[in-house]
Amino acid sequence: MLKKVILDKMNRQINLEHFSSNLYLSMSSWCKAQGLDGAAKFLAQHSSEELGHMQKLFKYVNETGSQAIISGIEAPDTQFKNIKDVFEQTYKHELLITTTINELVELTLQEKDYATFNFLQWYVSEQHEEEALFKGIIDKMNIIGLEGRGLFMIDKEIGNLVAN
Ligand code: FEO
Repeated sequence: MLKKVILDKMNRQINLEHFSSNLYLSMSSWCKAQGLDGAAKFLAQHSSEELGHMQKLFKYVNETGSQAIISGIEAPDTQFKNIKDVFEQTYKHELLITTTINELVELTLQEKDYATFNFLQWYVSEQHEEEALFKGIIDKMNIIGLEGRGLFMIDKEIGNLVAN
């Protein structure tokens, strides 16, 4: 069983990963409506990954004999200024997730819960990769630009990031 203080934060993280999945799905829908098929495909796939992050936490919590809680998920934004705005928001969101993961890791050390500390290491590495991924996309946008064919090229590049 997890200590209550850790369980509460694990359940909060389950909710946040669930929200991340919905946020990226909403962004995917906006991109699709703009004809940005590459970004729409990438964000839909990333939404599925976030659902995986949620389920991994859910499974771990229940394996400890504690109860994972599925709670209400805040509605994500549905309107964005442009594709750069979308990816700036994904990056900002991932930084927030990194902060919450780090808080959890810190808490497991304070509470001497080494099994959960060990479990969370996967999320620590994952956040490092995701920050680099989203930052890389923003960097590409800054290099290529969004004017004229730039937008088409960017969308294609993002679509190429999808694992087949
Ligand atoms: Fe589950 Fe993108 O962090």
